[in-house]
Order: sequence, then structure tokens, then C-alpha cells
Amino acid sequence: MRITVSISATIRLLKMTEHLPLFIEGEVVKGFGRGSKDLGCPTANYSLEVVKSLPERLEPGVYYGWAKVDNGPVYEMVANVGWCPFYQNKQMSVETHIIHKFEDDFYGSQLKIALAGYLRGEKNFDSLDGLIEAIKQDIENANQNLKSTSALNLKNHQFFSNVI
Ligand SMILES: Cc1cc2nc3c(=O)[nH]c(=O)nc-3n(C[C@H](O)[C@H](O)[C@H](O)COP(=O)(O)O)c2cc1C
Repeated sequence: MRITVSISATIRLLKMTEHLPLFIEGEVVKGFGRGSKDLGCPTANYSLEVVKSLPERLEPGVYYGWAKVDNGPVYEMVANVGWCPFYQNKQMSVETHIIHKFEDDFYGSQLKIALAGYLRGEKNFDSLDGLIEAIKQDIENANQNLKSTSALNLKNHQFFSNVI
């Protein structure tokens, strides 16, 4: 019994990390705007074309990593990949919350992200407050995990160094 549990946990871990680190690049387009309005957590969306170009077997869920807008600095980020069960979206999306306060929207900018690690699966919640609390915890966990040497090496990856 214990062996079965451990094998299935190992397979799951492999599925979650199979494609990491994953580099994604594209223009920021308008989402539903609920990130800022409902959650107090602005998110940057990619077009469907970018989302469709992702590995087919990429595990839906919340990832942590690094993000860069145009030629700006590289910031910490958390990103949700999937269908947002709380809002029951019809299309898959990649929504990146950059852990930095921007003064203005940056629709039309080029956003580069590197997914470094997997935090958890997408969940449904009984209330908006439940989702907000989960995202706060994700941000804390990302902040901790991004202190590791491998995560810091990824921040310096040449993916981020090419000037647009
Ligand atoms: C770190 C993070 C975690 C998220 N976790 C969930 C989740 O567990 N369940 C869910 O339905 N949506 C989750 N979301 C997605 C939010 O519901 C989504 O970003 C929000 O609806 C804003 O989307 P919009 O800007 O397209 O309106 C998460 C988003 C982020 C940034």
C-alpha cells in the first residue's frame, strides 16, 4: 500500500516538474480585469495563441518564477495556468501576478516569464476571500522558494538578458 502511494506521488511530482523551467514570451492582452477589481491582485494575460503554444501536458496549477516587462528589471512572480475553477473560465489562460507595484497598466508590452517551480493545483473556493487568502499564501511561498540557488540562477538566465 505504502509503495503504491509513494509511486503515484512520484509520478505526480514528475508530471508537475516535467516541463520546468519553462520560458514563455508574448504580448500582454486584456483579461476579464477581475484580478485588480475583485482580488486586489493585478494579473497580466497572454493571448490564446501563446497559451495554445504551451506543452500539451503542462500541469494546470499555480507556479512561481520570474517575470520581465519589456526591458525592465526581472521581478518575482506567481502565475496561474488553467481554467480558474472559481470563475469557471471556458478557455485556458496563463495569468501572471508580478510581485511589484506598477504605476500603470502595461497592455501591449512584451512579457517574459520563467516558470521555476510548481506550488499547487487550481482550486475552487466557497468565497472570494478564500481565493484571496490562497493567493497571498502563494506569494509568500514563491518569495521563500525563489531564494534557492537554482531559482536565483534562473533569474540570471540569458532568456532575460536579450534587449528587445
Ligand atoms: C497566484 C494565483 C493563484 C490563483 N489561484 C487560483 C485558484 O486556485 N482558483 C481559481 O479559480 N483561480 C485562481 N487564480 C486565477 C484568478 O482567479 C484570476 O487571476 C483572476 O480571475 C483574474 O483574472 P482576469 O484578470 O482574467 O480577470 C489564481 C491567480 C493567481 C495569480
